[in-house]
Amino acid sequence: MPDTSSTSVDTVLGRLVVERGLATADEVAELVQTRDTEANNQSLSQMLVERGLVTRKQIERLLPEIEEQRATRQIPGYQMLERLGAGAMATVYKARQLSLDRMVAIKVLPRKHTNNKQFVERFYAEGRAAAKLNHPNIVGALDVGQHGETHYFVMEYVEGNSVFEELQANGRYEESRALEIAIQTAKALEHAHKAGFIHRDVKPKNIMITRNGTAKLADMGLARAISDREAAEAEAGKAFGTPYYISPEQIRGEVDVDARADIYGLGATLYHMVTGQVPFDGPNPSAVMHKHLKEDLTPPDHINKDLTNGLAEIIEVAMAKDRKKRYATAGDMQTDLEAVARGEAPPQARRLFDLVSLSALDSEAEETAASSVVSIDRAGPAPPLTSQPIFWVAVAGWLLAVGLIIMLLTIAGN
Ligand SMILES: Nc1ncnc2c1ncn2[C@@H]1O[C@H](COP(=O)(O)OP(=O)(O)OP(=O)(O)O)[C@@H](O)[C@H]1O
Ligand SMILES: [Mg+2]
Repeated sequence: MPDTSSTSVDTVLGRLVVERGLATADEVAELVQTRDTEANNQSLSQMLVERGLVTRKQIERLLPEIEEQRATRQIPGYQMLERLGAGAMATVYKARQLSLDRMVAIKVLPRKHTNNKQFVERFYAEGRAAAKLNHPNIVGALDVGQHGETHYFVMEYVEGNSVFEELQANGRYEESRALEIAIQTAKALEHAHKAGFIHRDVKPKNIMITRNGTAKLADMGLARAISDREAAEAEAGKAFGTPYYISPEQIRGEVDVDARADIYGLGATLYHMVTGQVPFDGPNPSAVMHKHLKEDLTPPDHINKDLTNGLAEIIEVAMAKDRKKRYATAGDMQTDLEAVARGEAPPQARRLFDLVSLSALDSEAEETAASSVVSIDRAGPAPPLTSQPIFWVAVAGWLLAVGLIIMLLTIAGN
């Protein structure tokens, strides 16, 4: 039986006004106590307005959220505990799964998306498929369900911070730690890609770090109601939002987005982790997106001089604007990250740098080469000598000199 009593509305409202900084927890507690002792029938919202703590407009603006939270609290089988946060698309709550007595995180879809039947179907199909993935570096999808008008996605609860929060707290990571996190994320991506999933939103907020330091990729298998570009724009003005890590092909709205979009996202995340800066910044999302499409990347080792050449190469290859010049698989990127972690050169990146320097000679590739992030001065081993003009000039000079000597010797002999 749904709980429609005013008390549950008040509980949610009380928490929300405190969360929003409209009233303090003490002020709310005092109002509730006064009402209970005086046994008056006033609702908490009336009391808050009368005391001048909150305006009617503010209450009105909170109503959809109050409704969502109340509906969420009624999802059977779970006891809602607290709101963990909200992203571009949904709100996440911490809850206890009663049957197994364990903590879970529940992502609740906003009502505005649940009218879209096709989206809701995709949400269930992808959620169920994701529940079959089982990997230590992926936040496990546990269930998808519906209660009344509320559609929800249940996942493993990760106690810890996201890479985003760690970046906010510490500025940037030591290279060795960044490599550990990137290797684990590349493993997660390789596993998911092989199972047919593309994440599409690899970014610091979606990499959670458990208390024992393991990285776990969140939101795998979470269908999106809007295009990648729209999702990126929805984060307008929010620091470190999606546009900082989105691939050029997602910005262009291409339909055949593949694993290499996630490789770009991981490259951009790694760039931020080791430089303390997002790869491209600008006053608004479209300016940032324009740079992803057109502007050369400032090599990460120009910003952080302590960075190894190998890691800088990996990031530049992962973030090549032309996806053909990126790693073909997350496994290839993992191979290179592991090589650099062992103090060796990254073999795949070296090979890809060769590809980039050769394609720079190709007139058809001129446009992409101009916008390419990869610098030729890190092109790995030099091309064969015979392919260089200076070689043929030297050969011609040498033949001419030998000819002259023979001619002089012949004349002198006569
Ligand atoms: N499985 C989880 N365990 C614990 N906390 C989580 C979990 N998933 C999400 N969170 C918390 O909830 C917050 C909101 O997550 P959400 O995925 O909605 O937003 P986001 O990752 O910032 O953006 P996006 O909607 O683009 O993914 C996160 O920042 C994180 O703190
Ligand atoms: Mg997320």
